[in-house]
Amino acid sequence: MQRALGFDNSPDLSVPLRFFLNIPVFILLAGTLVLWAGPAVFSSRWSLATLALTHLFTLGILGSAMLGAMMQILPVACNIHFPYARHTSCGIHALLTFGTLALVMGFLDMRPIWFASAAVLLAFALLGFISITSIGLWQHRRQVYKGAREILVTVRLALIGLVITVILGVTLAGAMAQGNALPALTDLHAVWGLAGWAGILLIGISFQLIPIFQVTEIYPKLLTRWLAIVILGIVLAWSALSLSDALPSILREATELLLVAAYGLYAMTTFHLLWTRKRPKAEPTTLFWRLAMLCLIACAPVWLWLTSRHDTAATLLLGSLIIVGTLWSAVNGMLYKIVPFLLWKHAQDAMIIPDHDPAQARAYLRVMPKIAAYLPESRANGQFIVHALAVVTWMGACIAPHWLAYPAGGLLLISGIWLAANMMSALMIYQRTLKAMAAMPLAANLDNSPAHPYSTP
Ligand code: HEM
Repeated sequence: MQRALGFDNSPDLSVPLRFFLNIPVFILLAGTLVLWAGPAVFSSRWSLATLALTHLFTLGILGSAMLGAMMQILPVACNIHFPYARHTSCGIHALLTFGTLALVMGFLDMRPIWFASAAVLLAFALLGFISITSIGLWQHRRQVYKGAREILVTVRLALIGLVITVILGVTLAGAMAQGNALPALTDLHAVWGLAGWAGILLIGISFQLIPIFQVTEIYPKLLTRWLAIVILGIVLAWSALSLSDALPSILREATELLLVAAYGLYAMTTFHLLWTRKRPKAEPTTLFWRLAMLCLIACAPVWLWLTSRHDTAATLLLGSLIIVGTLWSAVNGMLYKIVPFLLWKHAQDAMIIPDHDPAQARAYLRVMPKIAAYLPESRANGQFIVHALAVVTWMGACIAPHWLAYPAGGLLLISGIWLAANMMSALMIYQRTLKAMAAMPLAANLDNSPAHPYSTP
């Protein structure tokens, strides 16, 4: 598995950033929805507010994060470039954002026009994204970095998961636009979305990023080579068994057990790598990843509870552990690594040093903040504490909604505001740095220029 990255391949900052900026906005919407709908959100998976909330998370937050991360990571980690990345990312981002809002409005308002609009906008957004990724993968297939083949296999498998999720999702939304529900397809759609698309992509991204950014040992080769393939095979087998009524349900449950075991193996391996990492002190991102993996491990006993009792609380708890506890925690943590790094890197790229003039370079470095200055650990740690409280309260709300629904919504809202403030302050530091660089005196006078407040002495 490759550990070096080609940072010079980074796309324009606006390409991933517009997706990442969606994330706090949709968190705020999700928190507001929980506070507005109250315990109804945790009363049943079929409650309309629950379905709206599910898609604020799966499309608005996780979808935005995953599309933005792929548009950044594929060029850097694999040398795969997206055609016309600036323009295509702009269109896909707009379609995804408005499509998600339309779908959420559909669930809250139940007017067919919302579902019809959502089906069209989201189909164009996600199938458009899959198409441009496939074009990039095909066009650059011969120049892929040598060690990046495993992550590319995982990305391709995740894209298969996304295609199937979108086809099923658009069919469901189309049916709802005509006033019909297709409950038989909903489980298929949900499993493909969570285990086939989001889960496999999370695995691929962590195989690549955790050893580099968390300074851990690399994942065992057997896992990086086979895990995603095995998971996709299990999801396929589970789908075939779900579609045939004639076979005993024990077979379906056996494939679910395999799926739980496969994700459990990934979670325990990741947790172990993070626990034994070479840097003893946990950074904010490490804390988010650990929480994410603990939630994923907790899915196993909750799945056993669900299989034995078919309890509403168990269903909601399992969905919440996957979406809020695992996927959202991992994405939130990754933002604290990716956003400061991108801002720092693009500020570096903005340096213009004629004839490699060392005086000019020294002067730039005086105004250039270090990566850690963009998002100080203390602020990220503060948000982690609120986030962890929100996750624990959220899980409690699945069991005791009348007690904990409002605290869970309130904590999510606070955590979202905190995240938004952290991201905005990082952006402001970046803007100030660019301004300071643009206002720099000529090279001859540089050594007398004042140091930037965030730079190292
Ligand atoms: C094209 C995009 C999508 C559309 C149009 C869509 C549409 C829908 C619809 C209409 C339902 C409700 C079905 C019913 O009540 O019968 C649903 C359920 C669900 N969707 Fe999506 N969806 C999309 C993408 C996704 C993605 C990407 C994920 C996961 C990553 C996802 C996860 C879920 C889950 C977990 C449920 C079940 C919720 C529950 O049981 O409470 N969806 N989707």
